[in-house]
Amino acid sequence: MKHKIKTSIFQFLSILPNSLGVQLYHKLQFFSENKNLNLKIKSTENTFNSFISICNQLKINILNQSIIEIGSGWLPIMPYFFIFKGKAKRVSTYDLNEHYQEKSIVNFNTIFSKEYNQSVNTKKNGKYSLPKEVVYYPSQNIITAEIPKAETVFSRFVLEHVTPEDIVEMHKKFKKSLEKGSHIVHFISPSDHRAYSDKSLSLQDFLKYDQKEWNRIQTKFDYHNRLRLPQYLEIFKSLDYEIIYLTFDSVKKDSEQHRLFKNIEIHSDYKNYSEEELTAGNINIVLKV
Ligand SMILES: C[S@@+](CC[C@H](N)C(=O)[O-])C[C@H]1O[C@@H](n2cnc3c(N)ncnc32)[C@H](O)[C@@H]1O
Repeated sequence: MKHKIKTSIFQFLSILPNSLGVQLYHKLQFFSENKNLNLKIKSTENTFNSFISICNQLKINILNQSIIEIGSGWLPIMPYFFIFKGKAKRVSTYDLNEHYQEKSIVNFNTIFSKEYNQSVNTKKNGKYSLPKEVVYYPSQNIITAEIPKAETVFSRFVLEHVTPEDIVEMHKKFKKSLEKGSHIVHFISPSDHRAYSDKSLSLQDFLKYDQKEWNRIQTKFDYHNRLRLPQYLEIFKSLDYEIIYLTFDSVKKDSEQHRLFKNIEIHSDYKNYSEEELTAGNINIVLKV
């Protein structure tokens, strides 16, 4: 039921005049993003630890290196881990929107420095109190933005919100602008995000709809491309990327999630995929340019 309320709110916001809808969305999202800040930091730290473990396996070095982050989101949590724990030289973080807010950055700086016993030296360069190693590029589409030289491109929970066409475009751009041998690391969450706040819903619930029906449910505020693992792999392979690392979660047989999955009637658009391909979650993938 909870997911229906959330969907109705997004649908209401999307019929308002654009700037009003965006403003209200920003206020609501700001509240929810800052509500469980400690949990968010811990969850991002888990991502950072997985990232480091992947780097160690693949012998990728971020020490003194430059990183580009696609999709900054609401707070520079991942960039801080790259800089303060990974000792990267610079993180250039890009977002289509401008979700950062000075008040929450200042609050985050206090929490991060206490929690990690780290002195966060910030100079108010421009609008935000960020360390000089973190450079924020809001209101910029990574596809068209000018990007600096970097050894690694990183994204966390972004690609599932990008249209398949734009995923192709951004990877064409990286092929052209990054040096050969650079790495692109994506953490992708291909599951139905409505199921995160509503445990009665299967993580694959949205696969019961055809594209038209799904477009009537989703809005620009919660767009999800519903791409399955083989579709991502197909895109990367078609652009001649070498896939040098891939892990994903599978739904355990006899679990509650498996029962929920079995209860949905998967739309015929997805009938050619195996159960493992349909349910593959938390995709971590590394591409070599
Ligand atoms: C769900 S948020 C994830 C934010 C953050 N990475 C995290 O882990 O919390 C996805 C973000 O990606 C941004 N985004 C989507 N497509 C983008 C693009 N083409 N260029 C830059 N940012 C993009 C969105 O504006 C949004 O802020």
